[in-house]
Amino acid sequence: MDFKAKLNLYSNYTNKVVCSYLPEEEGYQKTILEASNYSVINGGKRLRPMMMLASFELIRALKEKKCPPVESDSTDISKQSGRLLCEEDEACIGPFMAAMEMIHSSSLVHDDLPCMDNDTLRRGKPSTWAKYGEDMGTLAGDALMLYSFETAAKSTAQDKRFKDAVRVLASKSGIFGMVGGQTVDVELTGKKPTRKQLEYIYKNKTGALIEASFMIGAILAGADEKEVEALEKCALSIGMAFQIRDDILDVESTEEELGKPIGSDSECGKITWLTFYGKEQAEQDVRTYTAEAIDIVKKLGGHGFLEELLSYLVTRKN
Ligand code: IPE
Ligand code: IPE
Ligand code: MG
Ligand code: MG
Ligand code: MG
Repeated sequence: MDFKAKLNLYSNYTNKVVCSYLPEEEGYQKTILEASNYSVINGGKRLRPMMMLASFELIRALKEKKCPPVESDSTDISKQSGRLLCEEDEACIGPFMAAMEMIHSSSLVHDDLPCMDNDTLRRGKPSTWAKYGEDMGTLAGDALMLYSFETAAKSTAQDKRFKDAVRVLASKSGIFGMVGGQTVDVELTGKKPTRKQLEYIYKNKTGALIEASFMIGAILAGADEKEVEALEKCALSIGMAFQIRDDILDVESTEEELGKPIGSDSECGKITWLTFYGKEQAEQDVRTYTAEAIDIVKKLGGHGFLEELLSYLVTRKN
């Protein structure tokens, strides 16, 4: 199976799992349910839950000393049904995959608000506040963030793994993770950050949710502390590369291709990795961080699809 076919398989399956946990749109609070679902359903790449799944497979394979399923035996399962996990594993990790995408989507909903990046287009459609108003946009972000924990609580993971996974989900999303990074990003808008501040922003606003995705996948597959730490490091490099590439696309892409406005960073007066280090260095850093990440994956036994995905993201167009 070539990479594009595998990517299709993984993203379709991930999307199906994520959407299966979205709430029904009914009751007096129907508007917020619609706005929340709108924010998740509208065509994201689903990279974080997909990475959680790949990390789960990687550790599973390491534990069972066999190849990651999509490379070998589950190719048959997938050919028949597009399903990458057995029912039991899906009930364990599925709620966390959905929870991760809900938190990521909530971060985008808030990120687009007029008081933050003030963007009206997201994933090729009006951003949530542009469609539902600023009040509902704010509430939809809150709703999704909390519903993610309600969803994660549906996991059948055993006690210790469940507790560890929830702790990671909360801490990497909050003050010591994504919210922390967004805080400094917003505070330094219009100002020149130091190298250390810039690194802090990237590590936290973007790196933290990718770290959580890898760590949770590993924890649920029974990784030991060292393996979880290794994947946290791997994910940090991916997060850095991903955000630097995002900065480059904000300048070089088109609105049609990217599905979000071009030039948002300069319009907001943000100093990005690109403006701080220049195009050549930024592109080199995307490659270097990615190579570091792939190296860690290989050291943990390798995962064909994940390695290909990371290489693909270096030159991604959206
Ligand atoms: C956008 O993330 C926000 C950043 C951290 C750069 P994605 O590019 O993964 O967004 P979607 O989910 O595919 O829309
Ligand atoms: C991503 O940074 C931050 C989040 C954690 C949501 P950006 O502000 O650059 O993301 P986009 O470009 O709006 O997706
Ligand atoms: Mg932002
Ligand atoms: Mg933004
Ligand atoms: Mg951006």
